[in-house]
Amino acid sequence: MAGTQAAGPKRLLVLGAGAGQLGLLEAARDRGLFVVAVDRNPAAPGFRFADRRAIISVEDEPQIDRLAAAERVDGLIAPGIDWPVAVAARIAERQVIPHPIDPATAVLATSKLRQRERFAEAGVPHPRHIVCGTLEEAIDAAAGFGYPCVVKAPDRQGQKGLVLVRAEEQLGAAFALALGESRSSVVLVEELVPGREVTVNAFSVGGRFTPLTVTDRLVAEPPAFGVALAHVWPSSLAPEEVGAAVEAARDAARAVGVEEGPTYTQVVVGERGAHVVELAARLGGGHDAELCRAVLGVDLNALALAAALGEPIDDEQLRPVQQAGGGCTRFLVPAPGTLVEVQGVDEAAAVEGIVWVRVYPEPGAVLGPLRRGSDRVGAVLAVGASREEAVARAGRAADCVRFVVADVPAEAVV
Ligand SMILES: Nc1ncnc2c1ncn2[C@@H]1O[C@H](COP(=O)(O)OP(=O)(O)OP(=O)(O)O)[C@@H](O)[C@H]1O
Ligand SMILES: [Mg+2]
Repeated sequence: MAGTQAAGPKRLLVLGAGAGQLGLLEAARDRGLFVVAVDRNPAAPGFRFADRRAIISVEDEPQIDRLAAAERVDGLIAPGIDWPVAVAARIAERQVIPHPIDPATAVLATSKLRQRERFAEAGVPHPRHIVCGTLEEAIDAAAGFGYPCVVKAPDRQGQKGLVLVRAEEQLGAAFALALGESRSSVVLVEELVPGREVTVNAFSVGGRFTPLTVTDRLVAEPPAFGVALAHVWPSSLAPEEVGAAVEAARDAARAVGVEEGPTYTQVVVGERGAHVVELAARLGGGHDAELCRAVLGVDLNALALAAALGEPIDDEQLRPVQQAGGGCTRFLVPAPGTLVEVQGVDEAAAVEGIVWVRVYPEPGAVLGPLRRGSDRVGAVLAVGASREEAVARAGRAADCVRFVVADVPAEAVV
């Protein structure tokens, strides 16, 4: 039978030990949990917070299932990472341990296509899209939406197989890339929704959705289309636009059936109102929980740990007590090449208002140019009296950090 009966710390299995899991892993360690972390990358930065590490893929369900049983874990969680949320939900069900969402809900939450079917039924605005199995279908779909349009795999995250297509001649390559990344035999071709984008970080208890931070998502240009370069709180949108984004995120959670635990919802707000690009039933992968704690005093990592362990959550834990006028997570982008050394971290951490500076790779890592979220090499979290002050401080700190590289690959030299 799963679960520890004997005294001793509760045991938690964490799927992923990369940048997106750092905050939760640190919180689990600080809470005194016995942490088993899974990542196929032996150099994953989050392993340093784990009591036990398993070098296996977070998608290797049979192996993780066996590990969960052997380690007699009391809970398991996939923070900051999509597909393993469904892996965690299924294993929890088989091992009879708690999990905030059931496997059927997790399947919806981890498929852009399946969740949009629910959005359509429930009237939750989302980008118009067409499921395409052939390039000919994609050409027709794109012609209908007009250029630029977006092509993506229906079941990936982190900008894998995501392309902004500006003209028909780019469509063949984009379609092939998205199809190559797709776990099925289709891709999504969709309209580019005009507007500004926010992330709604929220937490639900017993079907009651509590919005926490609504942050502006500042994104990179193609070829790194959609990659977040910063999350900034409070949003610069008008209050009624923020309200519309929150309502859309709430409706999206209800449509997908998420009644417990964290949700991370990407919403574009423009002249046509708020459109949900995607909902994930998990913590955000961009240190969103830490930003929430720094500005609102709500410990979203602690809440997610409680949900994963099936512990009761007190209303008090969800009540914001504002800590700062503004907050900014700014990501560090790579200098392509083989990482020799990272300089200036202490200097960056000493900038006023900096909560922490995180560097993900170790020396020796090969850094590519910025294409996807996983190419980011670190982040700084800043707070300030205002949004502008937090952004300025984060910028100053980021400027201090220098990635010294060797062997710059020829293709990265412009
Ligand atoms: N139809 C769209 N209209 C406008 N912007 C879009 C659209 N689709 C994607 N984007 C942009 O690309 C980003 C990533 O899109 P999406 O969430 O679909 O891909 P992803 O691979 O799941 O990325 P992530 O892991 O960051 O969520 C969005 O946050 C948004 O900035
Ligand atoms: Mg997404």
